[in-house]
Amino acid sequence: LATEPILVAIDGPAGSGKSSVSRAAAEQMGFGILDTGAAYRALAWLSLHTETDLEDEAAVLALMDAWSYRTTLQGEQLIGIVLADGEGYDTFDVTSEIREPEISGQVSRVSKHPQVRERLNAMFREIVATSGLPGVVIEGRDITTVVAPDAPVRILMTASPEVRATRRQGELPGATHEQVLADITARDAKDAAVVDFLNPAPGVTLIDTSDMNFGQSIQAVIDTVEEARGAR
Ligand code: DC
Repeated sequence: LATEPILVAIDGPAGSGKSSVSRAAAEQMGFGILDTGAAYRALAWLSLHTETDLEDEAAVLALMDAWSYRTTLQGEQLIGIVLADGEGYDTFDVTSEIREPEISGQVSRVSKHPQVRERLNAMFREIVATSGLPGVVIEGRDITTVVAPDAPVRILMTASPEVRATRRQGELPGATHEQVLADITARDAKDAAVVDFLNPAPGVTLIDTSDMNFGQSIQAVIDTVEEARGAR
């Protein structure tokens, strides 16, 4: 008998440690990891590369009819896109390209469309339900509130803008602290206009990693999962 995987929903802003901490915590617990931001990024990438107007929801939805998005739930995040071009299919590995600053700057233009979000949410739920794993960590912006509001573990991971900028700076050689901070603040404002991921919804555990190192942040997630499991 297949049992439902234990769902660990984690939301939070860029630079909170959410992505790297979620991945490491999932690995330590033997769970899968679903990075929902990667799907939004892949869709933005595809829209840009097919000269689809990112502001045109109907056009983006039509594009989604012609794509297939694949992602692994273990280890490396692999993204393949199959694009119907009338002549056949093309497959792209966009694993690294979707992390480019150009995509980070454009992705909120596709993620703001309600029907696009609904379709991706259905896809996320399907991926989790068919994972065959004991548990899945699913991370994004609206996982605790919209995608999996009934998940037994729901976490909002935050850190102060200052700390997030310092962490991001390490990933962006050449950028000043002020530039990175301004970039983070601008992205928060754009993303928060779509879903509120800066304040925990009722019942959501807040983990502020401002004064935590990587290992402590991972442990905070694992402790929260263990607590919820013990309570079941
Ligand atoms: O977490 P990230 O930086 O990879 O997310 C990329 C973008 O996708 C970000 O601008 C917010 C958006 N996003 C979203 O709207 N909902 C999600 N569940 C995940 C990401």
